[in-house]
Amino acid sequence: MSSNSGIQIPTRLPLLCTHDGVLLPGSTMRISVDTARNMQLVKSRLLKGTSLKSTIIGIVPNTRDPEHDSDELPSLHSIGTAGLAVQVVGSNWPKPHYTLLITGLCRFRVTQLLRERPFPVAEVEQLDKLEQYTEGDPADGELGELSQRFYQAAVQLVGMLDMSVPVVAKLRRLLDSLPKETLPDVLASMIRTSNKEKLQVLDAVDLEERFKKALPLLTRQIEGLKLLQKTRKLRPDDDKRVLAIRKGGVFPGRQFSLDEEAEDEDGDDTALLEKKVKAAAMPEAALRVCLKELRRLKKMPQSMPEYALTRNYLEMMVELPWSKSTKDCLDIRAARVLLDNDHYAMEKLKRRVLEYLAVRQLKSTLKGPILCFVGPPGVGKTSVGRSIARTLGREFHRIALGGVCDQSDIRGHRRTYVGSMPGRIINGLKTVGVNNPVFLLDEVDKLGKSLQGDPAAALLEVLDPEQNHSFTDHYLNVPFDLSQVLFIATANTTATIPPALLDRMEVLQVPGYIQEEKVEIAHRHLIPHQLEQHGLTPQQLQIPQDTTQEIISKYTREAGVRSLERKIGAICRAVAVKVAEGHKVSRAEQHADENTENKAEDSGIAAPPEMPIVVDHIALKDILGPPLFEIEVSERLTLPGVAIGLAWTPMGGEIMFVEASRMDGEGQLTLTGQLGDVMKESAHLAISWLRSNAKTYLLSNGSTDPLEGTDIHLHFPAGAVTKDGPSAGVTIVTCLASLLSGRLVRSDVAMTGEITLRGLVLPVGGIKDKVLAAHRANLKRVIIPKRNEKDLEEIPAHVRADLDFVFASTLDEVLNAAFDGGFPSAVSHPQVVSKL
Ligand SMILES: Nc1ncnc2c1ncn2[C@@H]1O[C@H](COP(=O)(O)OP(=O)(O)OP(=O)(O)O)[C@@H](O)[C@H]1O
Ligand SMILES: [Mg+2]
Repeated sequence: MSSNSGIQIPTRLPLLCTHDGVLLPGSTMRISVDTARNMQLVKSRLLKGTSLKSTIIGIVPNTRDPEHDSDELPSLHSIGTAGLAVQVVGSNWPKPHYTLLITGLCRFRVTQLLRERPFPVAEVEQLDKLEQYTEGDPADGELGELSQRFYQAAVQLVGMLDMSVPVVAKLRRLLDSLPKETLPDVLASMIRTSNKEKLQVLDAVDLEERFKKALPLLTRQIEGLKLLQKTRKLRPDDDKRVLAIRKGGVFPGRQFSLDEEAEDEDGDDTALLEKKVKAAAMPEAALRVCLKELRRLKKMPQSMPEYALTRNYLEMMVELPWSKSTKDCLDIRAARVLLDNDHYAMEKLKRRVLEYLAVRQLKSTLKGPILCFVGPPGVGKTSVGRSIARTLGREFHRIALGGVCDQSDIRGHRRTYVGSMPGRIINGLKTVGVNNPVFLLDEVDKLGKSLQGDPAAALLEVLDPEQNHSFTDHYLNVPFDLSQVLFIATANTTATIPPALLDRMEVLQVPGYIQEEKVEIAHRHLIPHQLEQHGLTPQQLQIPQDTTQEIISKYTREAGVRSLERKIGAICRAVAVKVAEGHKVSRAEQHADENTENKAEDSGIAAPPEMPIVVDHIALKDILGPPLFEIEVSERLTLPGVAIGLAWTPMGGEIMFVEASRMDGEGQLTLTGQLGDVMKESAHLAISWLRSNAKTYLLSNGSTDPLEGTDIHLHFPAGAVTKDGPSAGVTIVTCLASLLSGRLVRSDVAMTGEITLRGLVLPVGGIKDKVLAAHRANLKRVIIPKRNEKDLEEIPAHVRADLDFVFASTLDEVLNAAFDGGFPSAVSHPQVVSKL
């Protein structure tokens, strides 16, 4: 490089901006060029120029060239390297670009930017004048000492390399022939350094500083190499591969790395793997497979693709927690307290978990049960799963099954496929690192099916407590014992879970919450949580119980507590604005005239100069807007032919208005509201029963058939939601009886029950949710099948006290309870049905 010393670079240089690499004087680098200005530079300067000077350009590192010509040029890094373009290669793929091979000559400083377009040209000041160093006595003072130390370190580094490689021998010779001042640049570009470190070396214009910056980098490389050689001593025959120096020039395009550990360790790898395999405490069968694979691995050349596959497999095997487990914390009392602190209510779930703990205390080898929490969204199924893990002191892993439609997702791919990997169960075990975690299989009811097989079928083996001690993942191909894992599945409905899968799980229903439970949950968990999320404190914001109750009844309609939490979040945001503004809630004055009955409350917040801000009835309306849900039951029952049914949906219970009307026709029945087959059949049953009993109830007007000359239309709102199930039977009968008799159904009665042709009322499911829905809607009387009486036990006493239950075993009883004054008893003077 000493030949460069005489080079005088032009005072005006075109500048090439790079950001992913630093060219140091004395080294060569490949630069890919694809941005507008840089391309221009190459085209008009390098490709057209003829003189040697025209091939010298300035490389400005750490400056991103804008994509488009029109964009502003960012501020330039002040120091750059003048470089000689040795080679220019153009290509059109994947997009037009050039690759330049550039050799760095010397540093320069940008003194003035002359122009920006079509490519930047600047006036520069040359910084390294190489001849100036060689003229002085290099052994002088501190600088001399530094350069000597640096030289020795460089010699030491090269000495550690394998001299039989020609490049290394050449490098050794070069070290002596190069002026010592160039060594920091040359070596810094060869050893493993980050761009940032190279930039520091480039920026060190002062030679002494440059030595100081580069020396630690060199020492680091030496230490790294020493370490590497130490580990390699065990296998001396590997020394030949110590260096993977690319041939082709003294200063290869990129710095060659002297410590490519990953590449170099292969030799030790098998030995290490073998050790790991032996230490993994695998069961006999797995160990045998591993040792066999190890033997194969040792014989295989590393370049074979299968080598990597086998190694990955073995690595997977040793990482699995074959016999590692966490110790259960078996303090039942503490567990109960923990669960209660995390989740309010949910008694059934908590009881079941505590039972499991209690039995486990007595018998430590108890198989993990497979629980399935089924309930509407937002009732805390997922979050209680998490806190169960915490209660037991176990690791927790959640596997979201919603939308999974490939069975290899569960069971893994066979190892013959490219890119094969184990399924989620085995992967989960690897992640948690113990064999007795709590696995939450979220949303099992939303598993898909596709050409790639049925994942639900793959789950069958995982979830069978009798079989899962030898679960075989396709990838592992040896059984893994899953019996210590506590599986918890969650689902919104059991209807879409395949029966075989459902049968293996212990289903625990998580019904929706009643108003009082929601208030408690809000005050114990949701409000504190939301306050924290919004950076508020209870001293700043208070939400009284009345307000919570109002949010629940007027702004949310749900079984769970998600939208309640969102509404509380909305309040917190509104208050956060006030708090941030240092503002007071004094809206009461504006509202006082609107709402006189709330005067007393208003005075509480009319002048609240300080915190806390109390969110009362008026503030609530202000923040959340007018109530979203109003109870309007009594208004809708002003016509004959309307009855209130109780429906169960995955969102919890709901009340449903069934409407019927009649018109001239030929006795046809029209059904609307997206009904399923079972529901349509219920409607036919109801009509048949009414026709056959028309006489008894005096429904027909003269003729024996009440449907003679009339068509009937039955509608179930909301029309867009698909409905099915037999439980609307009694409602349809009541609704039709009302239509045919012209009498109004009591507007505070709701009912549910399946009917038969003989007029019996059969039990139905979802009673708790349905009753809660009736209670929410402020209804007073609920008619349910007699055989569902036992289900009322689940319902809180105060809800039961609010409602008047009628247990019906026949339709006669239903009609009696649904109409004021009973049904047949009032027929002495039946209201005459209008003749249509
Ligand atoms: N009993 C409860 N006590 C405290 N917080 C609760 C309770 N029930 C629900 N939550 C809160 O409600 C939120 C929603 O719960 P989660 O995500 O567990 O619902 P989910 O039942 O899994 O619903 P989905 O079926 O939609 O998945 C969580 O923030 C949770 O903390
Ligand atoms: Mg969930």
